[in-house]
Amino acid sequence: MRHQVAIIGAGPAGLMLGRLLEQAGVDAVIVERRSPEYVLGRIRAGVLEPGSVALMDRAGAAARMHREGLMHDGCELSFDGDRLRLDFKALIDQRVMVYGQTEVTRDLMDIHTGPVIYDAEDVTPHDFDARPFVTYRKDGTEHRIDCDFIAGCDGFHGISRASVPASALRIFERVYPFGWLGVLVDQPPVADELIYAHHERGFALCSQRSASRSRYYVQVPASERVADWSDTRFWDELRARLNPDTAEALRTGPSIEKSIAPLRSFVAEPLRFGRLFLAGDAAHIVPPTGAKGLNLALSDVGMLADALIEALIDRSDAGIDAYSTHVLGRIWKAERFSWWMTSLLHTFPETGAFGRRIQRAEFDYLAGSRYAQQSLAENYTGTF
Ligand code: FAD
Ligand code: DHB
Repeated sequence: MRHQVAIIGAGPAGLMLGRLLEQAGVDAVIVERRSPEYVLGRIRAGVLEPGSVALMDRAGAAARMHREGLMHDGCELSFDGDRLRLDFKALIDQRVMVYGQTEVTRDLMDIHTGPVIYDAEDVTPHDFDARPFVTYRKDGTEHRIDCDFIAGCDGFHGISRASVPASALRIFERVYPFGWLGVLVDQPPVADELIYAHHERGFALCSQRSASRSRYYVQVPASERVADWSDTRFWDELRARLNPDTAEALRTGPSIEKSIAPLRSFVAEPLRFGRLFLAGDAAHIVPPTGAKGLNLALSDVGMLADALIEALIDRSDAGIDAYSTHVLGRIWKAERFSWWMTSLLHTFPETGAFGRRIQRAEFDYLAGSRYAQQSLAENYTGTF
């Protein structure tokens, strides 16, 4: 079979790219190794920047998001129980939307009418320097898709980046010695807005999915196993890291999902190899502290869609030639901010008492400086 673009991966990046291309009249196919149910079962990010909201609008996939998503004017930071509210609306006239990645994915699946091949095995990109094609196996039969371009939207462990010769890639990486243990619970959120908390026992985050569903995280050592964390142990640990008033207000219940995500900063450069492009987690990972992962994946594919449309419809290579340099600028800014938020709010045993005093000084500086707060707000809302 032949399509203009073969997209590998039907996560938010692949689905959004497929939808934007479909709207422009570009013939694209998406090949995904999992089932739709599996893709929708992954509980991940929860905060959308204004740019991501605008992209959902552009994709015509935003009706439910505008009905059910929660607009937040700000968030709270807490440091050893001391609270600081950051009012994005008052600081820089921006807000964020709390709407789960699962819902974004579901809405894109519902609106997209182009071909999506799920449960594809051994998906492999070939010959992307000259005449690209993608092979896969489904129900025991081998298939081949010839195409003009391949978009690698297959996440951190995907095949696209792994197919590029190591000598053509430059990797920048930092692995943190801890992860986030996350719990989803059908209880109202502890507060109207998100709370990012630093405590000497470690970081904690109070987030939410709706007025009746909450998402909580605690920092745990990278070696920790989910099986060792009963619900009771999780709630006790979370309460211990929050301001006493917040801990008191916390409504707990049986967890409906519990998982550990490792923390990593990672960038692969460049993002174009002939007729293969990388986008989203296939190209970069941020630690989740600044809520940037999903937003960065969406902004990558917004730019990639424009570049591919320009190449295939307007017959100009300007966009695809500029893609890598263009998106890497934004990627590195998000990498810096996520690293900075992670450094401010987590405990790093190796930096000792000096490191904690520096973190405290950073928090106090933020609390006292409108400029510092504006900088955080600009980065958090992605409006830089
Ligand atoms: P993905 O969502 O990973 O989608 C890639 C798709 O490609 C998947 O459907 C996968 O099945 C498919 N695929 C993989 N390999 C192949 C192959 N060989 N062939 C075909 N298909 C393939 N971000 C936040 O901001 N906040 C969070 O709390 C947060 N939590 C996270 C928790 C976890 C466990 C993980 C892994 C990520 C988390 N993130 C979070 C990051 C955020 O979810 C990602 O940045 C976002 O999912 C990126 O979207 P993507 O489409 O690029 O990649
Ligand atoms: C969520 C995850 C984040 O990484 C974050 O910074 C805020 C919210 C969440 O899953 O709700």
